[in-house]
Amino acid sequence: MPDRQIQRVLNDALQQFSDLEEGANADYIPALAEVDSDIFGIALVTPDGRVFTAGDVESEVSIQSISKVFTMALVMEQQGADFAPDGVGVDATGQVFNSIVAIEQYKGAEMNPMVNPGAIATTSRVAGESREEIWNRILEFHSRFAGRTLEVNQPVYESEAATNQRNVAIGRLMYAYGHIDSNPDQATDIYTEQCSINVNARDLAVMAGTLANAGLNPVTGEAVMSAANVPETLAIMSTAGLYDDAGKWLYRTGLPAKSGVGGGIVAVSPGRFGIAAIAPPLDEAGNSVKAQRAIEYVSNALGGNPY
Ligand code: DON
Repeated sequence: MPDRQIQRVLNDALQQFSDLEEGANADYIPALAEVDSDIFGIALVTPDGRVFTAGDVESEVSIQSISKVFTMALVMEQQGADFAPDGVGVDATGQVFNSIVAIEQYKGAEMNPMVNPGAIATTSRVAGESREEIWNRILEFHSRFAGRTLEVNQPVYESEAATNQRNVAIGRLMYAYGHIDSNPDQATDIYTEQCSINVNARDLAVMAGTLANAGLNPVTGEAVMSAANVPETLAIMSTAGLYDDAGKWLYRTGLPAKSGVGGGIVAVSPGRFGIAAIAPPLDEAGNSVKAQRAIEYVSNALGGNPY
């Protein structure tokens, strides 16, 4: 598709959805309530490394749950993709992302790495001799996907660390049921820090573009993850990337995707493009209202649905 047509579709999406008033910033993490609700940016990256942007693609927000994808991919690289179906689980829970009922139902089995219990268990599996080594591997892996050195939003990390008693309980429950075999509080703390990595819409699109390009970063040319693990990564994003609204999302777009309560969403049309949008106000399920609309619009206009 010609560049100017892609650019026009992005511009149209920005214009159509920038006045949407629905949704509200997440406020259960106090620092997220303070983020500018008007940030709205869209970016798209093609496998041959072309980058298209519209709106605010410079402002950074915390990556939040979108990090679950990349930490999961790191564990796949270290242990093989089967760590998920054989251990943490891959089915959708059908519950909110921090559901304790979902843990109780199967005693912590059948969690998905995209929801908090499965994500904290996944972070606990990252190999490393010390907290520092584990953390550095996670941050470095995210940075390679983005093609630049990412940094943590310290106020968001501190704000969530001071208020994440529910996630601490989730980590301990997963430990009690034998799905975490190291210090669960350390796993939750590292998970909280990974959720606080700052990204802009362009970063997220490059990260999505790397998944659309079989693990090869289309902008830097670096092979970030093995092509063999990409289909499983995308499958897990499809089952639960937008939580209990994953089915509705897949129905509308056909795209594996992942949202974060910071307001970002990434989506992948394999071989065609990676796309991302950021807009902090969220719907009831915890997914950005404008980012969903923008990505759906752009992808459908560009024939991104692989089905
Ligand atoms: O654990 C939490 O609650 C947050 N750090 C991440 C949750 C999240 O992003 C869910 N997304 N839609």
